[in-house]
Amino acid sequence: MKLIVNGGKKLSGNVVVKGAKNATTKMMVASLLTKDAVKLRNFPIIGDTKITGELCQAFGAKLMIDKNKSELIIQTPEITSTQALNLTRKNRIPILAMGPLLARSKKAIVPILGGDKIGPRPVDLHINALRSLGAEVTIFDDRYEATAPNGLKGAKIVFPFPSVGATENVILASVLAKGRTVIENAAIEPEILDIIKLLQKMGAIIGLGANRTIYIEGVKELHGAEHFILPDRNEVVSFAVLSAVTNGEIKVLGAKQDDLITFLNVFRKIGGGYRVKDDGITFFKEKEFVGIELETDTHPGFMTDWQQPTVVLLTQAKGISVIHETIYEDRFAYTEDLNAMGADITVFSKCLGELNCRFNGKGYGHSAVIKGATPLSARTLKVRDLRAGMAHLVATLMVNGSSEIDGVEEIDRGYEDLDNRLKKLGADIRREE
Ligand code: EPU
Repeated sequence: MKLIVNGGKKLSGNVVVKGAKNATTKMMVASLLTKDAVKLRNFPIIGDTKITGELCQAFGAKLMIDKNKSELIIQTPEITSTQALNLTRKNRIPILAMGPLLARSKKAIVPILGGDKIGPRPVDLHINALRSLGAEVTIFDDRYEATAPNGLKGAKIVFPFPSVGATENVILASVLAKGRTVIENAAIEPEILDIIKLLQKMGAIIGLGANRTIYIEGVKELHGAEHFILPDRNEVVSFAVLSAVTNGEIKVLGAKQDDLITFLNVFRKIGGGYRVKDDGITFFKEKEFVGIELETDTHPGFMTDWQQPTVVLLTQAKGISVIHETIYEDRFAYTEDLNAMGADITVFSKCLGELNCRFNGKGYGHSAVIKGATPLSARTLKVRDLRAGMAHLVATLMVNGSSEIDGVEEIDRGYEDLDNRLKKLGADIRREE
């Protein structure tokens, strides 16, 4: 599927931010931990929640979606199957279902993971942690198989770096385990805290300590709950950048300052402006854009998923910008597409920054230097992954002329009804099979 974008239009108006993809899919998996119904409000109707819905259904979940109210009710009275092998490689969620399946059925078989093509993306931390909790895990070419005949038991897990997915996996696997689990060097992204809030409402005992430590005391069972999903930070950032590069003014209703503090600082330093109100944040261009130095990091640092739209903005900034990507080793491939549009971006394997980085000396192109400002021109592009696809979209909406973006299904994995929401802001955009 393609998007035909006739760019160069000012984007202005109000847009409502949807619930965060990267919290919602995990909450759907968390619902497998109880036989009761879980109601998720502010539920985003996107590709990834559809894929995760199918995954949960394969295990016995029943789903009721109310599109108009943006609500999902999900309930799994019985685990009817402990495997979902026909859903291979669609996203990275199946491995998170292992804990709930082991807790309720002592067995789990899930496919090897898919998701964005942004580097090797191993799951060693997940597997090692599940083994520490007492699971016996066997890795096959196409699947992971795990059993826990005597149930899972609490353990101390120390991560070498704060992995989002592995932290979530341990939380989901330990809330019903026997005894106490301690996760040191855990990730504490707002989406993870929101998942913890849902689990607390379901009856879990989960505490947060200093220095990224999470404590979980296993309970015998969990019950149903209702939760309003936190707003998607990635959506907010995409709309913020769109307002700046098209010289418009977009109010993102529902955007919360709390989880965007780092982005707002960067946006202001580049030349973007914003006004924070109780009901949302308005973004616009305040002054001529200037280049900056930036490093992606785990929360509360600058998020790796914000890097791509921000790079498009920086192609329009005067001077030199330097970006050091410390979360993923291979997340700059899309800069080739921006260069083909007229940008001047060079990718380096050296660490061009100060953060201690796992990729130092390993030869991965994980730093980028952007020389600006350069005019970009319309182009036919192929989406590489979800966030890079958003960079394509931002770039094509910014430049004058007609561009084509192929493979838009990737963008649909993370953004609900995007074309229509953009049209309401003034974009000239249409979809073709
Ligand atoms: N890693 C390992 N071993 C593991 C797990 C991770 O080496 O066992 C490495 C990864 O290869 C990567 C780094 O650790 O280089 C970070 O991975 P992390 O586990 O923190 O991320 P994730 O759970 O795979 C989630 C989001 C990503 C987001 C990152 C960072 C979901 C489904 N995905 O990925 O979102 O970029 O956290 O915040 O929640 C997206 O939404 O487009 C997306 C890619």
